[in-house]
Amino acid sequence: MIRAIVLAAGKGTRMKSARSKVLHEICGRPMLWYVVQALRSAGIGEIVVVINSELRDEIERFDVQSVVQEEQLGTGHAVRVALEHLEPRSGRLVVVCGDMPLVTGELLGRMAGSLDADGGVAPVMALVTVKMPLPSNFGRIVRSGRRVERIVEVRDATPEQLTIDEMNAGIYAFDEVALRDAVARLRTDNAQGEYYLTDTVAEFVRAGRGVRPVLATDHLHVLGINDRIELAQVRKEMNARLCAAHMRDGVTIVDPETTYLEPELEIGGDTVLYPNTTIARLSSIGRNCVVGPNSRLSNAKLGDRVTVRESVVTDTTIGDDVWIGPFAHLRGDTRLGDKVHVGNFVEIKKSNLDRRVKVSHLSYLGDATIGEETNVGAGTITCNFDGERKHPTIVGRNVAIGSNTSLVAPVSVGDGALTGAGSVVTKDVPSGERVAGNPARPLPKK
Ligand code: UD1
Ligand code: MG
Repeated sequence: MIRAIVLAAGKGTRMKSARSKVLHEICGRPMLWYVVQALRSAGIGEIVVVINSELRDEIERFDVQSVVQEEQLGTGHAVRVALEHLEPRSGRLVVVCGDMPLVTGELLGRMAGSLDADGGVAPVMALVTVKMPLPSNFGRIVRSGRRVERIVEVRDATPEQLTIDEMNAGIYAFDEVALRDAVARLRTDNAQGEYYLTDTVAEFVRAGRGVRPVLATDHLHVLGINDRIELAQVRKEMNARLCAAHMRDGVTIVDPETTYLEPELEIGGDTVLYPNTTIARLSSIGRNCVVGPNSRLSNAKLGDRVTVRESVVTDTTIGDDVWIGPFAHLRGDTRLGDKVHVGNFVEIKKSNLDRRVKVSHLSYLGDATIGEETNVGAGTITCNFDGERKHPTIVGRNVAIGSNTSLVAPVSVGDGALTGAGSVVTKDVPSGERVAGNPARPLPKK
């Protein structure tokens, strides 16, 4: 099995942040998450992340091995620390930086595979190189003829070497036995006084061993993040990639530039996403839905043929053929049955609305259960909070809640009952009863 070392101990000073760089998020996941995913998708199961001590508690959620590099003495030193942690084995080992979330499993797999011998002796190192616009802070690939001779870091480079536009991406595959040997020989006689992992190239070449360059076709795949400007650039690229994947699967995204997605979303075929829409936190959307414009779904589960216009839906599960918005806010473990209609300026919190319930205008429902086919009139409010505690409101089936009704919880309204406009309901209303007034009292029987 192929092993991997992820380098993530650097302080990331240019982020000017109290948080470790690799924990900064793009599209809803820490950048390290993407690197770990890419390694796993390349079939690499054993992953060791080299971290600084600040990351010690946070690393657990990534389900990888980790080792602390107490002092950041350079990339070569980081690899040495990781190798000390790993039981020596003969086999292949991939090294990648934790701040390169756009790296793909395809590229990592291709590189590990390029340690295969083709004809002659197998190389002991493969590295991803990339053509990049100048100037650049990346290490330069120095070749002699077609052969890679060494990598020179920008701070050690001659003006002539700085004109080389083939760069070291910082992604490598090694023969582990050869790597252990080379890393032990690294020295710090360079401009930064660090152990450079990149010096292993010259070391191998000197020993007559093969180093194979693998040219990345797209420099975006190896874009590392050093500051918040690059963070934004990578986010944009990652979002474009996520949108493209859903569009290929049959989702219409009217404007991918202003549609903000995350990994691990489910979106059904023929669903249309309109601009300025964010879909976050493991949301799922059925088929033939319309979401947006100007909407945010977070941990929302939508059935088929649901429309959400200009609305915010959080921690909510929705059936089929439901209409929401414009300007609705659903939250806090709310459930809507099939064919529910939630209209303008309605807030619903921790409530359960059965099928065909209508709440069309200007209402607040909190801690409420509403039976099927009930109509909640404009301006209805559940007064669920007495200043200290929240209380439930239970409304039955086929109820007509009149406009501007206040339901003072805890309270219930039975099946088929009616409240008149402006009722303040302070006592339970039996099934079939008609009440009105403040406080609401039964109306004379017709
Ligand atoms: C490195 C390469 C450079 C390459 C570039 C690509 C070296 C010497 N240079 O330069 O050729 O073009 O990456 O991005 O390797 N890290 C540790 N411990 C340390 C030092 C670094 O874990 O002691 C980690 C960092 O967190 C980072 C990665 O290693 O994820 C790269 O380190 P960084 O300092 O960014 O190296 P560069 O100067 O970018
Ligand atoms: Mg860097």
